[in-house]
Order: sequence, then C-alpha cells, then structure tokens
Amino acid sequence: MMSSLALVRNPLLILLTSFFLLAAAQEGSRSVSVGDALPADDRNLTWRSPSGDFEFGFRRVPDQQGLFLLAIWFANIPDKTIVWSANEGNPVEIQSRVELTSNGLVLRARSGMELWWSNSTQDGTGGVSHAAMLDTGNFVITGRNSENIWESFQYPTDTILPGQELGLDSILSSAISGTSYKKGRFQLRFTSESLVVNQIDVVTGTAFQFYLNITDGL
Ligand SMILES: *[C@@H]1O[C@H](CO)[C@@H](O)[C@H](O)[C@H]1NC(C)=O
Ligand SMILES: *[C@@H]1O[C@H](CO)[C@@H](O)[C@H](O)[C@H]1NC(C)=O
Ligand SMILES: *[C@@H]1O[C@H](CO)[C@@H](O)[C@H](O)[C@H]1NC(C)=O
Repeated sequence: MMSSLALVRNPLLILLTSFFLLAAAQEGSRSVSVGDALPADDRNLTWRSPSGDFEFGFRRVPDQQGLFLLAIWFANIPDKTIVWSANEGNPVEIQSRVELTSNGLVLRARSGMELWWSNSTQDGTGGVSHAAMLDTGNFVITGRNSENIWESFQYPTDTILPGQELGLDSILSSAISGTSYKKGRFQLRFTSESLVVNQIDVVTGTAFQFYLNITDGL
C-alpha cells in the first residue's frame, strides 16, 4: 500500500496522480454521447456528475404507481432533493426513455411518442456533440464547435443553485406540492423593468396582482 509519505517524497507521483484524477474528471464530464439513453424503470440508471453530487435521470413519483419524473437531484443527501425537472413537471409512464440525439434531449413515451425535447438545435440539423451532468447541478449540451447549446440552468423550475443566474424573462415557479413538480401558485419573474412575485391561477396560468414589484436599481 502506498503511504502518504511516499507521495510527499515523490513529486512525480503527485503529478501523475493529479493527472489521472484530472483525466478521470474530464472523462466524467464528457460522459453522455449522442445515442445514449436512460429508461424509466427500477434499474434507476442515471447520468452522474463527476463528483457524484448531482444525478440526471428518472425518479419514481411517490404515491403514483408506475410514474417517473425526468429530473436532476442532489445525489449525496438522503432526501435526494430535486432541483430541476423536465416536461413541465409532468411524470411519464414506466418504460419511457430519454435519449441524447444529435438534436438534443428527447423524452419519449413507451409508445415512442415524443413528449418533451430540449430546444438544442433550432433547425433540427443535428449539431450536438455530447452532453454532461456538471458538478454545479447544470446539465449542459455541447455542440460540435464546443459551444454551449442548451443548459438546464437556462430553464429553472423551482430552484436556483449557487452559480445559476435567473436570466431576463425567466420565471421561477413553486412546485404544486411536495410530491408533484407541476407549476404551483407562486412565481417569481425577472423582466427588464422589475423583479415580480405573484400568484397565478393554476388552471389558466393567469397572473394575479403582485405581492412584490422590485424596480430599484434594475
Ligand atoms: C430503485 O429505486 C427504488 C426507490 O425509488 C428502490 O425501491 C429500488 O430498489 C431501486 N432499484 C435498484 C435496482 O436499486
Ligand atoms: C422550446 O421552444 C418552444 C417554442 O419556442 C417553447 O414553447 C418550449 O417551452 C421550449 N422547450 C424547452 C424545453 O425549452
Ligand atoms: C412593476 O413596476 C414597474 C415600474 O413601475 C412596471 O413597469 C411593471 O409593469 C410592474 N410589474 C407588474 C407585473 O405590474
């Protein structure tokens, strides 16, 4: 077994160790290739961030037999708190699939019907190179010219993570309940004029009079 003293005495070993750790991290951060897919079933397969802090995949919906939510969650805490979800928070049936295609992520029902897709390449000409679940909690799709073409951070649901920005015109919505991630009554909107907190009519989506409208300094 290698003692830490051996490491201290051998700078080359330290260098090699860091090189392999770095290589492993880069490998991990490039882990999703076009054609890779995850099934919604009890194998619980996921795409993990290099540190293992975040996972992307399907989560069984409590109290709803056979339904799964496509989501990103904290993987290293017992609650495995969900920080992002796809498909407007609507769960899908068992044996649905999410696949990284050359046009982005596609969520398909068991029947093959498309339920949701990431708007990665607008023209559908297939510019996706690979994707990665990052240690920040951001799922990023990268194009053939290494450009960032889609990221979950651009489409926040009910959570903002450290390092994530609430972009102009983005909306943060509360989840409808502790077990359903569909849009709930409260929303925070960031527009060019102000930061607004209001309730909405959950059925029609109509915004009610705001509680808070912050314009100072914007
Ligand atoms: C997958 O997760 C569920 C809980 O959501 C658990 O009951 C099941 O045993 C897990 N399956 C595997 C293969 O780990
Ligand atoms: C994709 O774009 C359409 C129309 O521009 C929009 O309605 C939809 O919400 C977008 N989907 C995602 C996942 O961003
Ligand atoms: C918030 O206040 C600004 C400035 O008075 C106004 O332009 C904007 O329309 C208000 N937002 C809402 C949702 O009423």
